[in-house]
Amino acid sequence: MDMKKLAGDKAAEYVKDGMVVGLGTGSTAYHMVNAVGEMVKNGLKIQAIPTSKATEAQARELGIPLLTIDELDHVDLAIDGVDEIDPQFNAIKGGGGALYREKVVATLAKEVIWIMDESKLVERLGAFPFPVETVPFGMPFVKRRIADMGAVPILRMGDGKSYLTDSGNFILDVQFAENTDISQAAEQIRDMPGVVETGYFGQMCSRIAAGTSSGVKVMENPHRAV
Ligand code: 5RP
Repeated sequence: MDMKKLAGDKAAEYVKDGMVVGLGTGSTAYHMVNAVGEMVKNGLKIQAIPTSKATEAQARELGIPLLTIDELDHVDLAIDGVDEIDPQFNAIKGGGGALYREKVVATLAKEVIWIMDESKLVERLGAFPFPVETVPFGMPFVKRRIADMGAVPILRMGDGKSYLTDSGNFILDVQFAENTDISQAAEQIRDMPGVVETGYFGQMCSRIAAGTSSGVKVMENPHRAV
């Protein structure tokens, strides 16, 4: 049983006719996009905003009608993966490098569902390297300031070169010291000139769908009821 597919298929059930839907990025979101594509083939009428070029290509292939970020004025429902999520529904995202677009789409959305396999459910955030998207100009300066916080920032690489996001930026993957308050650290980093966005997604979802070895579990966030 593929736990990521279980979660993705479940979340797709919340997509309804007439919605503007934010389509997430990554291997879990991939299953959700496939499920939504199938629903569109069967007559579902939606418009969607993809959170990455990869998801855009997948959605196009499936015939899902797309909007650009400039064309939409709201998003009804955003569905996306996470790298870690704690019991208070705070998440770290950006392992797939799409954190900035994901943050924009989730912020615009009336409702957000995070999807994951059970390995992403953690008691405390911080084991996963924390992604920080920075513009290329001044990146070493941001890196030094993060190191001054007692953390270890590492420039993400891909194909032997600095990894570039869909917006042409760098990513620093940051390992914090144990017991760091990630929400506070994220705020501090976000204030640094050159930082575009961080992978901290605090209290943004109204529910999660987690694929587990005993089936899919949907959990509602009591602080963000729909
Ligand atoms: C991309 C993301 C992904 O949603 C996150 O990395 C989870 O990916 P996966 O479902 O492949 O484990 O934030 O920027």
